[in-house]
Amino acid sequence: MPHRLDLPADFRWGASTAAYQIEGAVDEDGRGPSVWDVFAARPGAVRDGHTGRVACDHYHRYAEDIALMRGLGLDGYRFSIAWPRIQATGSGPANQAGLAFYDRLVDALLEAGITPLPTLFHWDLPQALEDGGGWLARDTAYRFAEYAEIVADRLGDRVPAWITLNEPFVHMVFGYALGIHAPGRALMLDALPAAHHQLLGHGLAAAVLRERGREVLIANNLTPVWPASDTPADLAAAEAYDALHNRLFTDPLLLGRYPDLSAYGVGEDLGGSVRPGDLGLIAGPGPGLDGLGVNYYNPTRIAAPAEPGGLPFAEAEIEGVPRTAFGWPVVPDGLRELLVGLRERYGAALPPITITENGCSVADEPGPDGTVHDQRRIDYLAGHLDALGAAVAQGVDVRGYFTWSLLDNYEWAEGFNQRFGLVHVDFTTQRRTPKSSYAWYRELIAVHRAGQGR
Ligand code: FCB
Repeated sequence: MPHRLDLPADFRWGASTAAYQIEGAVDEDGRGPSVWDVFAARPGAVRDGHTGRVACDHYHRYAEDIALMRGLGLDGYRFSIAWPRIQATGSGPANQAGLAFYDRLVDALLEAGITPLPTLFHWDLPQALEDGGGWLARDTAYRFAEYAEIVADRLGDRVPAWITLNEPFVHMVFGYALGIHAPGRALMLDALPAAHHQLLGHGLAAAVLRERGREVLIANNLTPVWPASDTPADLAAAEAYDALHNRLFTDPLLLGRYPDLSAYGVGEDLGGSVRPGDLGLIAGPGPGLDGLGVNYYNPTRIAAPAEPGGLPFAEAEIEGVPRTAFGWPVVPDGLRELLVGLRERYGAALPPITITENGCSVADEPGPDGTVHDQRRIDYLAGHLDALGAAVAQGVDVRGYFTWSLLDNYEWAEGFNQRFGLVHVDFTTQRRTPKSSYAWYRELIAVHRAGQGR
């Protein structure tokens, strides 16, 4: 039985997914190849050679998946739109069959009483744009705004709020700096223009969406940064890491400027990519963001680098805490710390927050009784919701919580080996089995709605 949560009565409960992780149907109805189709096909790129060719087959089974959401009693569903379904090569006229899929999805969600919260870009860039430089090319930002306009014109009458980008930090670092995600480029600090061009794309798309009277959010991956000690060297390293992971993707949106990256030997023009006027386009007029989406998984412990000359930080182990199946440290109070820290850092410039992702990978499989007893996920979620309640009690304005994820799905470079769902998916039969955490979350939402929240 979920405990009492001290959250506002109109707090919104949701679940999140992303197109490439669940849809499958990669060749259907005019969809073009994305960077993930190409990357996943590269030998050795993804664990066990898994690809998103079929994934959860959600493209064909979305009605069944919406029934699962309805069963949970969700207020909202965060999903992403696959750009290569809308424009196979990332530019030019819209592919009507691709738009029609999201049209059906949105209508079916509304029919189930669930508000759609679409993300326009969750890492599946049309490969044709990558061939022209991807997010290293300024032009991609303008193509993104055109794509946003097409989608907003088709779905905007039924979609009150949009998320432009998912985790531009992770996309830049894993995709362009380290090469462990698509598009698989390992450019280290030369990847920084991919930060600026994503943010510019956000700003241009936000203007299009706001012209149409819609709300705009971004979903940032944020982490509390813990210095390994209070020596000046560790403190400086932690500050440098914080600038890269957290501030680089939030300061320009809320404060209209980039953080100091001089510890990286990088100037304010981020490798020559920032042009006059760009920061104004990113921040937009007035408060440029209607809400900040926060994806939280764990804190990060940072020490001074062992050797000078490379990056100005080194990641250190967080010891003495439980770990998820992925090996990520479980620190629920890190969510409270993060939220309170955002309020302290940005003050009145901080818009209302929605937790757009939070969850954990657990390796549990169906037992002899056919059910999946994922108590570790329940403990994870309960701990993080308590931390969220504590942040709200400390005055942070949080409007909703979207857990990652509704379904077990394609976990990027890990393939199908990390299960984050409230619902178990057998990737051979496509059979969906709600786990214990599904029943727990349903109960939690029902208890809250019955007025036992604040
Ligand atoms: C986030 C991603 C999401 C999922 C979770 C586990 O970084 O946005 O797609 O992979 O991690």
